Amino acid sequence: MNTMNAAHIRHGSNIGQKFTRREGALKVTGEARYAADHHPAGMLYAALAVSAVARGQVTSLDVAAAKAHQGVVEVMTPENAPKLAHHPDEKTNPFSFRLDLLQDARVRYVNQPIAVVIAETLEAATEGALLLAPAYAREPAAVRFEESEIFVPPAVGVGSPPQEGHGDVEAGLRDAAKRVDAIYETPAHYHNAIEPHAIVAEWHGNKLVIDTPSQGMTIAQGRLAAFFDIAPEDIFIRSPYLGGGFGGKGMISGPQVLGIMAAKLLGKPVKLVMRREQLYGPVGHRGMTRQHLRLGADAQGALIAIDHHTLTATSQFDDFFEPSSSVSHTLYATPALRTRYDAVRLDTGTPLFVRGPGEASGNVALEGAIDELAESCGMDPLAFRLKNYAETEPLSGKPFTSKALRECYAQGAARFGWADRPLAPRSMMDAAGRLTGWGVGTATFPAHMFQAAARAEIRADGSGLVEIGAQDMGQGAWTALAQIAADGLSLNMENLDFRIGRSDLPDAGIAGGSGHTATAGSAIHSATGAAIAALADIAMNDETSPLFGAGNAGVVSRNGHLYRRDDESRGESYAAILQRAGRLSVEGRGEGAADPAVMETYAAHAHGAVFAEVKIDPDLGQIRVTRLVGAFAAGRVINPRMVESQYLGGMIWGVSLALLEETIMDHRTGRPMNANLADYHVPVNADIPSIEAILVNEHDPHINALGIKGVGEIGITGTAGAIVNAIWHATGRRVRSMPVTLDKVI
Ligand code: MOS
Repeated sequence: MNTMNAAHIRHGSNIGQKFTRREGALKVTGEARYAADHHPAGMLYAALAVSAVARGQVTSLDVAAAKAHQGVVEVMTPENAPKLAHHPDEKTNPFSFRLDLLQDARVRYVNQPIAVVIAETLEAATEGALLLAPAYAREPAAVRFEESEIFVPPAVGVGSPPQEGHGDVEAGLRDAAKRVDAIYETPAHYHNAIEPHAIVAEWHGNKLVIDTPSQGMTIAQGRLAAFFDIAPEDIFIRSPYLGGGFGGKGMISGPQVLGIMAAKLLGKPVKLVMRREQLYGPVGHRGMTRQHLRLGADAQGALIAIDHHTLTATSQFDDFFEPSSSVSHTLYATPALRTRYDAVRLDTGTPLFVRGPGEASGNVALEGAIDELAESCGMDPLAFRLKNYAETEPLSGKPFTSKALRECYAQGAARFGWADRPLAPRSMMDAAGRLTGWGVGTATFPAHMFQAAARAEIRADGSGLVEIGAQDMGQGAWTALAQIAADGLSLNMENLDFRIGRSDLPDAGIAGGSGHTATAGSAIHSATGAAIAALADIAMNDETSPLFGAGNAGVVSRNGHLYRRDDESRGESYAAILQRAGRLSVEGRGEGAADPAVMETYAAHAHGAVFAEVKIDPDLGQIRVTRLVGAFAAGRVINPRMVESQYLGGMIWGVSLALLEETIMDHRTGRPMNANLADYHVPVNADIPSIEAILVNEHDPHINALGIKGVGEIGITGTAGAIVNAIWHATGRRVRSMPVTLDKVI
């Protein structure tokens, strides 16, 4: 038992320990094999050719020129692309998103694949793609809100209603002593994982083997099985490492499927790696939003109405709507609450899940507006948030499975030194003459659980094996889930063989929605428990075992042994039990999923509070975040090192959302003009001078057996709002359009 950590972190000998990444050495030495590191014999290289126009028709491609280029083997176009058993525009469920798979010459967005050139070398494929010289019948494209008709989306996010709420919002706003009426804007964010989408595909007759990064292998198998008319089990996916997922690898993307089609067309293994600029279209992005917030408070500073309207954009051909208003369901108590959505269709790729979809974009708007209301009430922004603290979830009225937000506020504020904050803006300046401001933002993220299965084995040599088709996209699943597995079998990590990242292991569902550790961890907890129970059964029925007849008293497992619960001097090792029984192993299987009774009764969220200091050059408007302190409570902490890293990573995304990230579209052509990491700004080390995450104690007795909530995405919430509010405090200027760049504060 580890006694160095606080009680909410402590568990067995593995959970709660700050293990380093088990695959860390492999990664830093280049030994970890990512998808594109595979080179099966006879492999060919594929390069995408993508559209330069946003809407229209490809009228010609110079296939002959590309094919004449040395090393080019084939050019895949709608003329010769394998026909698919299931048309990629046919939707079998709301989450089978439409893909562009060369089934016709139609162009629906810039960077849509229009051909694939396959060659003996990467260079030849790339050069061949440049020789295609596409001609287009171009149609006018809409890329701004004003250029398309507004409609009410049928559902937002993952099936949420486009209007929800309770109470009379208009009456509340009418009666309010203080009001805020503000429009916040967030731009489109595109995926920029360090590993672009990549695939190595190899057909063996009707069986398919692919190396490709995936946040959900079973979902991918299902989609691919339909396209190629084969059984899902005949598709073997290896995805042991991801160079970042962020939602972009949740569903299989069109370019990945094109790699498989190319392999089918040529009858040889094919590798396709997307170029970075090609990511700005076919693999999903965060849809831009314009959010109208109207809030009202009474004379005492109590919220009496929240109206949160989001206008967002989706593509011309599919439906995904950034669910930004939904954050207002969970944060602040109010007798009248309304969330609403409108949308437009633009000539872009379909927006999809990106780093806190809805939560990130919605939270910065709500936290900004709340700060504005605190200001008009003449209240300290933290005191205002505490006054309007929601004891039960505002929309549903349900109690929380657990909520330690007060502690997050208190610990974060103490660490940051919030008590010294002057109320008025523009009242702090540093020695260098920079305007200094302090801001706070509340963080929250739903504690999702999906569906997972796991298999555990205890072997005759006393070691354990746990298998689950889980995904490590950098968050540390290889390590955190192994800690749960090792504790479940009461073994040291060294005695555990732990396997993830392959589609032939039990289905772990999706690594997304910050629900992977809770879901896969619960499956592992249940499978390891079943394996221990099976082993105990053998021992308790064996007359020669010291555990014989322990039935009613039961047994406990500890460090590779089982002991009688009522007399721990009587016990024996796993190995002794299995060897005497002549067994090679015992097995247990288990599942993880949210308990419907719990979900019916409670609201499940992680919470946090983020405090930011900014310093702004009064002449140049240059904004630096100089301090960030986040305090988060998300149930049990499996590995404090990994959890802290998740929070810090999320907070850095928050800096990105507040100050840097923005896809700039050429309004005439619909082309993203900054489709590269030089011009698409994300924070680098120099942008993050001092950042700290506090792991606040929280025991959640309801959420799942281990008490785990998610930590992956919550850090982006709270942070952006804290920064925007700090900018106001420094300058007296409310900037409501993200990112807050220097031109907006001067
Ligand atoms: Mo995430 S956007 O839930 O992969």
